[in-house]
Amino acid sequence: MKHVIYRNLTSNILRLGLILLLTFSTTVLAQDGDPAKGKTLFNTHCAACHKLDKAMTGPALRNVEARLSEDEGLDRDWLYAWIKNNSALINAGDAYANKIKDYDASAMNSFSFLSNEDIDNVLAYTAFVPEPTPGGGDDTPIVVPEPGISNEIILGALALLFALLAMALVLVNRTLKRFADAKGIAVAESEKGIPIWKAFVQNQFLVLVTSIALLLASGYFVYGYFMQVGVDQGYEPVQPIHYSHRIHAGDNKIDCKYCHSSARVSKTSGIPSLNVCMNCHKTISEVAPETLAEGQEYGVDYNAEIQKLYDAVGWDGRAYTGETSPVKWIRIHNLPDFAYFNHSQHVSVAGIECQTCHGPVEEMEIMYQHAPLTMGWCINCHRETNVKVKDNAYYTKIHEQLSKKYGVEQLTAAQMGGLECGKCHY
Ligand code: HEC
Ligand code: HEC
Ligand code: HEC
Ligand code: HEC
Ligand code: HEC
Ligand code: HEC
Repeated sequence: MKHVIYRNLTSNILRLGLILLLTFSTTVLAQDGDPAKGKTLFNTHCAACHKLDKAMTGPALRNVEARLSEDEGLDRDWLYAWIKNNSALINAGDAYANKIKDYDASAMNSFSFLSNEDIDNVLAYTAFVPEPTPGGGDDTPIVVPEPGISNEIILGALALLFALLAMALVLVNRTLKRFADAKGIAVAESEKGIPIWKAFVQNQFLVLVTSIALLLASGYFVYGYFMQVGVDQGYEPVQPIHYSHRIHAGDNKIDCKYCHSSARVSKTSGIPSLNVCMNCHKTISEVAPETLAEGQEYGVDYNAEIQKLYDAVGWDGRAYTGETSPVKWIRIHNLPDFAYFNHSQHVSVAGIECQTCHGPVEEMEIMYQHAPLTMGWCINCHRETNVKVKDNAYYTKIHEQLSKKYGVEQLTAAQMGGLECGKCHY
């Protein structure tokens, strides 16, 4: 414990020193910019194409001013001109502008609305932020996970259980002794242990009650065991890429059907191909610092997981290398082959929310099977759920006939034939 504290202390002192040093050196270098304001501007206008430490659509921009001044002898006025209107600079025949213009097929936007002061701030930001240090970067707070209380609750419950058991034993012991006394069996204090079971065996009523209790209990467990055969409720395998529905469907509110697009029109929902991921992840190669900190609570490095996606599609940050390897997602929900289930029937026709069957997906850090997926589960819902007949011409006539037959206004899925074996079994 102690040496951990010392280590944290030393590393904090080192970090403080580093920040002081950088503040000092940047105030000398980048004169009059506000790095905090610069960060906001950078994230709004530049981050789509530039990163500080990695080439993306445009070159990496850390210390760009120092680099251009050393390598090319360019000053801040050149940067003002380039950032405000790079095509004008290129057309004017500027040597470096014409050299860099072929860096990427797409050109950089013009930012004529940025003032010199804005650009000072952006440049201050590119010069200010410390290099990421191993073991927690500059602005990534290190999160110590809260110790879970669930263990304590379980221990408490166990202790209570033991106390109750002990009490029950004492009571049984007393009763037995009383029986023994009544029957005149001597339970001498000196003959410890033996007479109690003797007394027990001799009492037929107690033996009967105990055997019935034991039989019932084991019957209950055996039945429970067999009912669970083939039921995988709660199944939560470790996937090849730690993919969080909480972050995508929850925090970022991405529609389920953006990725599971076939749910509307076909039997299966399908798992999205990696192209779909790359629609966003071409530009999102790292998560926000707060998100990264959340990941530490779950023990995952989110950025490393995005890197796995890049390795799979062969993306080096700027272009596809052609070296791909498929991601082998592990299938979670799986009905036996003899059962037929159709997503579009439930999602599009019946208008049932995904969450009704799959649970609070937008809160799941790791996907798991929420529903039991047993026949009883399907049947119960068919008995309870009304069919949506409104605005569905297909149902108008059927609904008229059947609602007369059953004498009801609303028809359940069961009344429409949702209990017929052939509908769900091939
Ligand atoms: C639409 C994408 C895009 C955006 C947005 C963008 N840039 Fe660029 N930037 C580029 C590209 C691409 C280049 C390389 C030149 C080229 O290919 O036209 C570049 C080059 C640069 C360079 C020259 C770097 C060097 O090493 O030579 C600087 C400086 C620069 N950008 C600053 C900025 C700043 C500051 C912002 C935000 C205010 C910004 N860029 C926004 C795409 C972009
Ligand atoms: C950005 C894409 C994306 C979005 C949005 C998304 N998912 Fe997924 N979903 C996936 C990927 C990738 C997997 C496979 C990995 C896994 O199981 O975590 C998956 C797996 C699943 C599975 C388990 C599949 C199996 O193997 O049985 C279910 C159920 C599911 N998603 C439901 C939903 C629901 C409901 C929503 C909306 C609340 C949603 N998804 C939003 C990408 C997405
Ligand atoms: C519509 C845009 C979008 C799509 C599509 C998308 N992502 Fe993401 N992804 C994001 C955003 C936004 C973040 C979180 C960024 C943040 O919080 O800083 C993220 C974070 C991640 C992370 C880190 C957190 C985590 O979930 O472990 C991984 C890994 C990831 N995405 C993988 C995928 C995969 C695999 C797919 C395709 C099945 C995919 N993403 C599709 C936008 C998208
Ligand atoms: C009526 C219940 C129900 C609803 C509503 C539902 N699902 Fe499913 N889902 C299932 C069942 C049952 C399976 C297993 C199917 C199988 O194994 O054939 C499944 C399987 C899946 C799978 C695994 C791959 C596949 O296609 O079989 C994904 C992904 C999925 N559902 C996503 C969704 C999404 C997204 C929605 C909402 C648009 C949704 N589900 C709505 C019951 C439902
Ligand atoms: C959340 C409720 C719900 C659950 C769970 C559910 N269903 Fe359904 N199902 C419906 C509703 C509502 C309809 C009627 C849809 C319509 O209008 O055609 C339906 C219709 C069907 C139909 C078409 C019936 C017909 O008469 O044509 C089949 C087949 C079916 N479900 C199979 C299944 C299977 C298999 C499962 C379990 C794996 C299941 N359903 C689970 C609500 C549910
Ligand atoms: C709403 C859909 C649905 C209907 C209607 C339905 N079943 Fe099933 N049945 C299922 C599903 C889903 C399973 C798979 C359950 C599992 O894997 O636990 C199943 C499983 C079974 C099994 C295998 C035993 C088991 O529980 O795994 C038998 C036998 C069976 N059904 C017979 C029937 C008969 C007979 C009928 C007509 C009276 C019928 N089913 C109607 C959905 C249905």
